[in-house]
Amino acid sequence: MTFQVALSFEDGITRFIKCDGDETVADASYRARINIPLDCRDGACGTCKSLCESGTYDGGDYIEEALTDEEAEQGYCLPCQMMPESDLVLQIPTTSDVAKTAAGTFSSTITEIRKFSDTTIGFTIDIANRDDLVFLPGQYVNITVPGTEATRSYSFSTGPTSKELSFLVKITDGGLMSEYLRDRAQVGDTLEFTGPMGSFFLREQKRRALLLAGGTGLAPLLSILDKMRTDAADHPVHLVYGVSSDADLVELDKLEEYTKSLPQFTFDYCVSDPASSAPNKGYVTGLFEPTHLNDGDVDVYLCGPPPMVEAVRDHLKSEGVTPANFYFEKFNNAATPGGSAAAAAPEAEVVEMVEAAPEYEIGEEHQPLSQSDAQFDARMALELGAMELTIGRMTQEQLSEYRILAEASCKSIENDHFTDAGAFTDTNASFHEFLFRCTTNDVLLEAYNRLEVTQLMTKVLRTADWVDEHIQHDHLDIVAAFEKGDRAAAHELIVSHSAHAKATMCRAIERSTVA
Ligand SMILES: Cc1cc2nc3c(=O)[nH]c(=O)nc-3n(C[C@H](O)[C@H](O)[C@H](O)COP(=O)(O)OP(=O)(O)OC[C@H]3O[C@@H](n4cnc5c(N)ncnc54)[C@H](O)[C@@H]3O)c2cc1C
Ligand code: FES
Repeated sequence: MTFQVALSFEDGITRFIKCDGDETVADASYRARINIPLDCRDGACGTCKSLCESGTYDGGDYIEEALTDEEAEQGYCLPCQMMPESDLVLQIPTTSDVAKTAAGTFSSTITEIRKFSDTTIGFTIDIANRDDLVFLPGQYVNITVPGTEATRSYSFSTGPTSKELSFLVKITDGGLMSEYLRDRAQVGDTLEFTGPMGSFFLREQKRRALLLAGGTGLAPLLSILDKMRTDAADHPVHLVYGVSSDADLVELDKLEEYTKSLPQFTFDYCVSDPASSAPNKGYVTGLFEPTHLNDGDVDVYLCGPPPMVEAVRDHLKSEGVTPANFYFEKFNNAATPGGSAAAAAPEAEVVEMVEAAPEYEIGEEHQPLSQSDAQFDARMALELGAMELTIGRMTQEQLSEYRILAEASCKSIENDHFTDAGAFTDTNASFHEFLFRCTTNDVLLEAYNRLEVTQLMTKVLRTADWVDEHIQHDHLDIVAAFEKGDRAAAHELIVSHSAHAKATMCRAIERSTVA
């Protein structure tokens, strides 16, 4: 069986190769003349170590020095050893240049131009070798503006398996591509482009998704929706689409269609112009509902202008929500540096244009590990204080209850895996809170309750299976130290228990990042 492997390089270029189920990714890659980093070719040196973003594979044989168990758990892999069991997306830790490859170049013909309004134009192209153009939903290409040598980046608004290749462009006065599309473009024109590019693409769906589009940032999200429909994705997806004026509002009929063809898809839209006739005026953040944010158990994909990315980030922060994954692509339609306008412009204008350069950035943010560590460190510090107030002073009845709670928390763990992570989170919370209750110090209890350990565990451990194997005994050992009134042992156990808890959370967070 043959699979498709996407090799995503550090400079944003993605190359796709075909890899048989019984050949290594490195062999397939060299067969395609793509020189990914390689040295021993034997799973011994770790030179080829890469990150697998999605898909399943047989990791092959290698030694711990090349790839540790922990790295393998996090999704790192050795292409010189791995063989695919499904299509894969790999992040290769080098540039396409070093790997002696480059983006593909294609020649296309415009088959349709749709003037949605004065501000937005859509166009569709056709290429003869459509099968050679493989891309991930959300990626873009660099199109050469006809009659110039300048290129502009545009995201596909159609899905990877669609025969048609469409784009959605915001028209900016004085813009090179904008004016070509508005004033001169004709069906039948030739467009040259290179690609695909970019690391803003749909990851394997593991949870609810929230898609946020600003203006023509809708294009890559339409491509993502197309892929979700092809895959018959069964997680809820909500899209919020925000534009500046009514003229910018496009493709609502297409979104409406998706509500019928994609189970669990819903959307809403808003226009910031107060004079708009749209039902919702304002910004996308005004349309967020608690179900869309799902207490942070959500993958957010945002494509829009830089201020929108910042506004969403600030909003989530103020709501105390940290999404499991936050993928964003910022682009605006200001002057594009390096284009023919720059080449043709007098020096002073070039400077001006560079100053007006768009902020373009693709990024990912995940549940921050530091936030989790800080919560567990704070719990440990408070627990050490609570221990000082209670050790040697607990009644027999309290000690018995403490033991019952410890035993209850062990019931949902077997060695190094959860049998029921949700039940563990609950019983663990009762166990830890009990010590603070025993202090009869309301201020300390309140300080403990202000921590977000339990909320964080609920969110992060929802789909986790691995748990540090020591956790199972830690609670019982802590109770035993209290029963003996052994302050030193209790101190040591509380500290080491915190490290085991942090390791468990770390693994779960990193797994959700790779997912
Ligand atoms: C990864 C990525 C994906 C993108 N995807 C999309 C997409 O799907 N849809 C979309 O609409 N856009 C997208 N963009 C933005 C797009 O690439 C262009 O930047 C945008 O369309 C403007 O190009 P243009 O040729 O029309 O304008 P440009 O020629 O780049 O000019 C833009 C503005 O700058 C002004 N200007 C031009 N020359 C100068 C100068 N010398 N000094 C000062 N000002 C000057 C112009 O008057 C105009 O107002 C994307 C950008 C990136 C980076
Ligand atoms: S090349 Fe040495 S481990 Fe892969």
